[in-house]
Amino acid sequence: MSQVTLLAIETSCDETAAAVVAETADAAKPWLLRSNIIASQAAIHREWGGVVPELASRQHLRDICGVVERAVETGEVTWKDLGAIAVTQGPGLVGSLLVGVAFAKSLAWSYGLPLVPVHHLAGHIESLVLQHGELPLPAAVLVVSGGHTSLYLIPRPGSYQLIGRTRDDAAGEAYDKVAKLLGLGYPGGPIVDRLARTGNDRAFALPMPRMTHADRNAPGSTAPPGLLPPAIERKVDFSFSGLKTAVLRLVQERTANGGPLTSDEIANLCASFQRVVVDSLLDRTFEAARWLDARSIGIAGGVSANSRLRSEAEARGARAGVPVFVPPLSLSTDNAAMIAAAGLRRLRMGATAGWDLNAQASLPL
Ligand code: KG4
Ligand code: ZN
Repeated sequence: MSQVTLLAIETSCDETAAAVVAETADAAKPWLLRSNIIASQAAIHREWGGVVPELASRQHLRDICGVVERAVETGEVTWKDLGAIAVTQGPGLVGSLLVGVAFAKSLAWSYGLPLVPVHHLAGHIESLVLQHGELPLPAAVLVVSGGHTSLYLIPRPGSYQLIGRTRDDAAGEAYDKVAKLLGLGYPGGPIVDRLARTGNDRAFALPMPRMTHADRNAPGSTAPPGLLPPAIERKVDFSFSGLKTAVLRLVQERTANGGPLTSDEIANLCASFQRVVVDSLLDRTFEAARWLDARSIGIAGGVSANSRLRSEAEARGARAGVPVFVPPLSLSTDNAAMIAAAGLRRLRMGATAGWDLNAQASLPL
């Protein structure tokens, strides 16, 4: 197969996205981004304080034709130049996913192209390779978004081994919920990030999530047996719902004792919350990377746009002597360029789908 140029579609949540990515002749930097078009629905969902699934799927229907046309035009390709169509099969909102899957199937069928199903989180992971080229392997990659907080070991290109995950809320979800209870708007992550820069991160002593309590109903570890020492296995899972509840209690106590929070208090609370989230994410990622002798660390997904997470990760990486890779901001939050990259990887592995391909809301990676 000569070098393929691929069109990808991503509609798993509230962004309608399409992108064109081409293979290069360079095995170390295998993909070249030609276009990356995103129609965000944030303004629609903001009014409701979160994503409304029915509104999301209806808006995808309105936007998808224009977004795909623009991706092809901006990528300066014609339909004849395309060698495959990739689409996010899951996980995500099923009504949203269905719009992308049905559209991709129709395109692939009418142009006689192979159809490549892609896992959304594989896309986030491959956004790192799209930007930086192949990572030094094995790599420990943290995918941290509104729906997921998962840590993967990448032993070889295209192989993703889950070693840690959140037991409750995703980190981005905690950001969004804390922003909502502080009345800051949606999506909360970027707003909390901005306000935290002016606050004192030690003003409030919020609890650090721990996964090693003696718990009669403790779930087993996420990492496959034998990969990590037993003392570490459970420690590399994440939890954010207790932290969110601690913020809620603190706000309730303060406001019960006199009026709304001042803007200084809000900034201090954002900074204190952000410190705990970032430390909790990075402690586990660096601990796992150390035990696994990882030669690099990657951080991807919407929350990887966070300014403190980026700077702390870089500083810790420099201290540990391990290179840290994050995507540029345009590839951090949901986009189709990452789906195109993962799609090209899957195409080379022979993973194409039939016309019976269906969206899967909770697809395992
Ligand atoms: O990857 P993504 O676009 O969608 C999912 O797959 O979930 O991630 C969206 C999440 C949201 O929760 C949003 O609040 C969070 O990423 N986010 C941030 C920042 N930018 C986006 N969280 C913290 N700091 C940011 N700067
Ligand atoms: Zn995502």
